[in-house]
Amino acid sequence: MSEARPLFVVFEGIDGSGKTTICGEVQRHYLEAGLPAIGLREPSDGPWGKRIREMIRSGSMPEPGEQLLLFMRDREDDVASNVRPALEAGKIVLMDRYYHSNAAYQGALGLDAGHVIRENLRKGFPEPDRVYLVDLDAAEALRRVRGRDGAEGGRDAFENERFLSAVRQAYLSMADRGFLVLDGRLAVRDIVEIVVRDIDALLGE
Ligand code: TYD
Repeated sequence: MSEARPLFVVFEGIDGSGKTTICGEVQRHYLEAGLPAIGLREPSDGPWGKRIREMIRSGSMPEPGEQLLLFMRDREDDVASNVRPALEAGKIVLMDRYYHSNAAYQGALGLDAGHVIRENLRKGFPEPDRVYLVDLDAAEALRRVRGRDGAEGGRDAFENERFLSAVRQAYLSMADRGFLVLDGRLAVRDIVEIVVRDIDALLGE
């Protein structure tokens, strides 16, 4: 397979759905196969992303309209510094959250999800070749978060069951042709296998 075959895929899902683990395993698969796969995440590791993570942790997020602007500001830097250069270098870009998180989370907080998507597209952010939505029930996802982070887990601003149920519904209602919805109850290796088969097909197109 040629080195100059860029691909841009995104992993989405509620907190605790398993998307970060899956994203990491898929990256490992392609690196082991000798292909240039890069893993990125949002909020990013840049200055805006760090500020956002700190705000989420400390419960000091502003109102949803401001949140939209913050996440988009972070995305603007991330796209310019990381996503576009990687795609231009022909890499497989595996993204842990992108603007669909913006629509689902800030949508669940009351913003119009269609408006959020349009604002992101208006910025000219590249559209992914595929979105993998790891779908899981909110109660089960929270159990996993608490198992991972201890009893204190699942207490940040975005991690409560009613809210995550709304986020899940928002994701499901935006799933269109570009999405592949994955059953988050399956074993990680089974989900990874489905994703790898799909990416191989996309690379072969
Ligand atoms: P998350 O991937 O859960 O980070 P971590 O790996 O540190 O747990 O992302 C942090 C939170 O940010 C998550 O609850 C979803 C939220 N988020 C939004 O609300 N809007 C967005 O546009 C993005 C990218 C993330």
